[in-house]
Amino acid sequence: MARRIPQRQVDERAQAILATGLYDRWYGICPSDRIADRPVALKRWGRNLVAWRDRDGALHLQDDRCPHRGARLSLARNDGDRLVCVYHGAQILGDGTVAAIPGEPGCGLEGKRAVRSYPVREHRGAVFAWYGSDPDAPPADFALPERLTNGAFRAILCYTEWRCPYRFLIDNNMDPMHGAFLHTTAHSMQQGSRQAEFRTRDTETGFVFEKTGQKDLNFDWSEWYDRNFQAVCLEIPYPATGGPGGNFGIVAHMTPIDAETTACFFWRHRKVSGWQADVWQFLYRTRLEERHWHVLEQDRLVMETMAADADAREHLYSHDLGLTRVRGLMAREALQQARALAAGLEDGAQAETFGQ
Ligand code: FES
Ligand SMILES: [Fe+2]
Repeated sequence: MARRIPQRQVDERAQAILATGLYDRWYGICPSDRIADRPVALKRWGRNLVAWRDRDGALHLQDDRCPHRGARLSLARNDGDRLVCVYHGAQILGDGTVAAIPGEPGCGLEGKRAVRSYPVREHRGAVFAWYGSDPDAPPADFALPERLTNGAFRAILCYTEWRCPYRFLIDNNMDPMHGAFLHTTAHSMQQGSRQAEFRTRDTETGFVFEKTGQKDLNFDWSEWYDRNFQAVCLEIPYPATGGPGGNFGIVAHMTPIDAETTACFFWRHRKVSGWQADVWQFLYRTRLEERHWHVLEQDRLVMETMAADADAREHLYSHDLGLTRVRGLMAREALQQARALAAGLEDGAQAETFGQ
């Protein structure tokens, strides 16, 4: 007989999805250079994962759990094209197939895809992975914002991990007004008014939240981007001493490590090519990077010291309409995903993740 999932469980599942990341998106995992051939343990989306490279340099991201009795595959030996579990020697290929069970050759586990493997890409210094609601379905297009795909932009990845929920970072990036207060001592955010009116403007991939009366004076707009990948794009004006390339752009992307911790990706970029790109990179490394870290520290201090339920007791005003809209979009999609998983269970499908 078909199972009926109570609404309360669906709502709880939606909250859990929201806390550890929507399904069916590409997510940044870590900087590419963190993964060599030795298996590395990572946590993303509240899941224990292992990342490693095979002998051809191809990167694999898998659940960090041996299908035999659950030993961590991050403890395994890399045998070139497979991980060999330390506990009893199970051999797992990069696609999750069990190649051999030395303790009992021919056992039913051999030949099965018993470990979940996530589709991965490497781009602009980072590893990305597809977090599908259906582990067996192919990923959607790897569709990053143009600022990360168009060669006219030179982007430098800045990666860090913060002890706060990822939603605080989304809120922070969708809040252009904080530039004129929190960052008023920063080299690039001393100009402009401390009051503003905002409007939203829809785009093909999301929307822009922008000040109506001021542009290119401070942190004056944010763009929510959501096309199989979520990010906030923004620009900060630069003084002439900042070298060629005009405004300084940031693509901010956040991946939940778990409900309380976030892997933060900031691709700092400018529209420069050729020698100008080299100047930008040089200036960045020698002078600007340190200043940018200082600005980020101002954000981090606020984010990490806010109560985990800070957004449950707020008094929002018009500057917060951008982040409010993103919250609504995220919450609606989390509920849709929870409903779809529940419907799959009710139909008898093995929806792997429901109720976790
Ligand atoms: S737990 Fe891995 S082979 Fe036994
Ligand atoms: Fe900030």
